[in-house]
Amino acid sequence: MKPFVYVTRQVPDAIYKRLAAKYDVEMWKEADKAVPREILLDKVSKADALLTVITDVVDEELFSRASSLKVVANMAVGIDNIDLDAASRYGVSICNTPDVLTDTTADLTFTLLLATARRVTEAAEFVKEGKWTSWAPMMLVGTDVHHKKIGIVGMGKIGTAVAKRAAGFDMDILYHNRNRHEVAEEMLGAQYRSLDGLLEEADFIVCLAPLNDDTRGLFQREHFQKMKKEAIFINASRGPIINEQALIEALEAKEIAAAGLDVFDKEPIHTDHPFLTMKNVVSLPHIGSATKETRMAMMRTCCENIEAVIDDGHPRTLVNKEVLHFD
Ligand code: DGY
Repeated sequence: MKPFVYVTRQVPDAIYKRLAAKYDVEMWKEADKAVPREILLDKVSKADALLTVITDVVDEELFSRASSLKVVANMAVGIDNIDLDAASRYGVSICNTPDVLTDTTADLTFTLLLATARRVTEAAEFVKEGKWTSWAPMMLVGTDVHHKKIGIVGMGKIGTAVAKRAAGFDMDILYHNRNRHEVAEEMLGAQYRSLDGLLEEADFIVCLAPLNDDTRGLFQREHFQKMKKEAIFINASRGPIINEQALIEALEAKEIAAAGLDVFDKEPIHTDHPFLTMKNVVSLPHIGSATKETRMAMMRTCCENIEAVIDDGHPRTLVNKEVLHFD
């Protein structure tokens, strides 16, 4: 009997066929709707591998339903939807998709920063709504990005790639991270700051930290209050790192100038979410890695990891390395 692979979201033919050439594959066929929990729990009971996305909760209950599950290939660099300890206890390898999305996500993060600073979405709406009647000296003026200070919270691969882009805009680069990043300091002139120091000094605060127990709720009202009144806050990592209500209140109280958000506490946000009525907030639907090239590369990475584990090889991007020591 061929190993059974369950794919939790509709993937392009090329990916489906690659897996189907070797395995018995089933796929949840709706592109825009997550697989219902009961179906996922049912499928996992006979699965050798899962190809999951960030909306799938991969927890203890799921592992306890599995009898032959060996690998979960999560189509994301973030693995906050997965209980890693439980995975290791159940002997399941968890793989993610780092590297292939670094530049693409950095591009989107910088796009969001530029769009927020230069009011790009608001200006495009202005034209569409027929409000452009004349050139005017102060019409839709934004704020400069070049020669300003960017403060990157979370100087991993994506943070460093954003710093490179910022260097091209002649920005001063400040960063806060668990560990010092000597390469970024040497190559890009990045300067380490305490979190408070960064918040007080930066013109653009860019959150790119991974979501974990240390970063959940990292940004509270007092953090926004420490920022400059002209500061622009960008989040392209995970929504729950921010106390969303605190950000709404900080924007309403004009404690900061604007926000550009690709991620939210609960996704998708509801159409009556306060952010959607704020002209100084640019909201995007979690599209950091969303280019054809990168999404295909992410899915290929998932396939490679599934193939490696099922064929007893070494997965390229294993997250829970300790699984190798559990029997
Ligand atoms: C990731 O990779 O973690 C993104 O948020 C999903 O593309």
